[in-house]
Amino acid sequence: MSNKPITVQPTWIKLQEHHVSLENNHSLRSLFYEDVQRFSRMSLSIPGLLFDYSKQYMNSETLDLLCALAQECSLSDEILKMQRGDQINQSENRAALHMALRDPQSYTFEIDGENISTFVRDTLDQIERITNKIRKNSNITDIVNIGIGGSELGPRTACRALENFSDGPCVHFLSNIDGSAVHALLKKLKPKNTIFIISSKSFTTDETLTNARSAKEWLSQSMPEPAISNHLLAITINTKAALDFGVTPENILPMRDWIGGRFSLWGAIGLPLALAVGFKNFKEFLCGAHTMDQHFIHAPFKNNIPVLLGLIGIWNHNFCGYKSLAMLPYAEDLEFFPLYIQQIDMESNGKSVMQNGEAPSCDTSPIVFGQAGTNAQHSFMQHLHQSEQITPSDFIIVAQPEHDLKSHHTRLISNALAQSKALMDGFENLTQPYKNFPGNRPSSTIVIDRLDPYHLGMLMAVYEHKIFVQGALWGINSFDQWGVELGKDIAKSIIKHIEETAPLSEIDISTQGLIHHILKKFKAS
Ligand code: F6P
Repeated sequence: MSNKPITVQPTWIKLQEHHVSLENNHSLRSLFYEDVQRFSRMSLSIPGLLFDYSKQYMNSETLDLLCALAQECSLSDEILKMQRGDQINQSENRAALHMALRDPQSYTFEIDGENISTFVRDTLDQIERITNKIRKNSNITDIVNIGIGGSELGPRTACRALENFSDGPCVHFLSNIDGSAVHALLKKLKPKNTIFIISSKSFTTDETLTNARSAKEWLSQSMPEPAISNHLLAITINTKAALDFGVTPENILPMRDWIGGRFSLWGAIGLPLALAVGFKNFKEFLCGAHTMDQHFIHAPFKNNIPVLLGLIGIWNHNFCGYKSLAMLPYAEDLEFFPLYIQQIDMESNGKSVMQNGEAPSCDTSPIVFGQAGTNAQHSFMQHLHQSEQITPSDFIIVAQPEHDLKSHHTRLISNALAQSKALMDGFENLTQPYKNFPGNRPSSTIVIDRLDPYHLGMLMAVYEHKIFVQGALWGINSFDQWGVELGKDIAKSIIKHIEETAPLSEIDISTQGLIHHILKKFKAS
């Protein structure tokens, strides 16, 4: 990161002044309709993906200033540091080399005495071997990925998005520690036809280990001990813990600490996807992400889709004061995409300390939420259209459907375009104020040609890089997540209180009261 906080960069103050002048002279609507060239000037396309930001509240001066701000924050150097494996995750002394997972041949340097390229290739070979073996085995009908957070959201989102390409075993995801999730899933499955993948970078995550123990116990009820290991795979950095759990060495796929959990689906964590869609499609997925990496690394800021997406987010959040972001994929198969973006955005950038230990001088990650359109229209979009709080939106549209129901697709796209237009234009009705739509609500639209492995890879990589851009400019570490640790530690001690192995008096009175109440009901059940 640049040595100076973003707010003391010369262009920061210029952007603040520019925002005041924009507000005094233009609405989003007026900016839009004053410039007939606006779409062609404020949209970008690369083969397979179009990014339209013409409905954002900005003009060409805003764009120039935002790009100047990125220069002042040395964004190009930050990208280079990530590429060459610097320890940009400073609180954990780690590199962030997820781009290497989709481009092994370019990452030929070593970390901790290991060649990155060799590691990535070996992992891909192992994914291919295991994928082919399992997909050929007609006895295996079901795969259960046991993992949470980054060890679940990426592969789950991708498996769901690519259901049209799935021709392998049925892949399920078990993440929540809630026994009802385990119960509901296992009652549908047969042990002899099921393989469990225990996906945990650390192999210490309580949710994952508790679920894995229950799965093993379930297997043991219908097969002898030695057979159980044929039904267990593990993906982890912690080989010893996986071996101790009973996974055989050949069934363990390794990870490395230079792959952040929420950026890991391009390597071994992507195994469930490879199993669902086949290794060839998995490679296509990596290829789409690699294309986006190349664009991100080489395109000038003004023509760089992830850079612009990141800068527009900073503009909306830090200058316009819009504190949330709605993710609106108009594709049922992208229904989990908003959940995936929530983690990569809010777990990466929801922080109030910079890499240098100081407090950031401006707000960081917005609140991200979303749902697949058109369902979102019948839920929270009332708020987007008429609340006094303005929420920018990202619309995602798939141009070519994977089905023949043309009338559905026409209506789906019409709805997406209608929503972004309605948010921008609004509709004045002063006599019936409850029917007044203020408009001037910004949005971007990303159109991908198809929802296939290649284009999905592009789309997911766009957002990874967007998050990186914002973290780099805010000066924060996008690759750690210390904020989740405190709750995990407290849960460990609360278990002792609930199991009555530690005195309740040691805990605060509110939590004591709740434990008393719950225990009474729990014991009576
Ligand atoms: O939620 C915290 C977190 O550490 C995530 O960053 C990570 O993706 C998830 O838990 C799971 O961790 P692991 O893969 O080590 O089980």
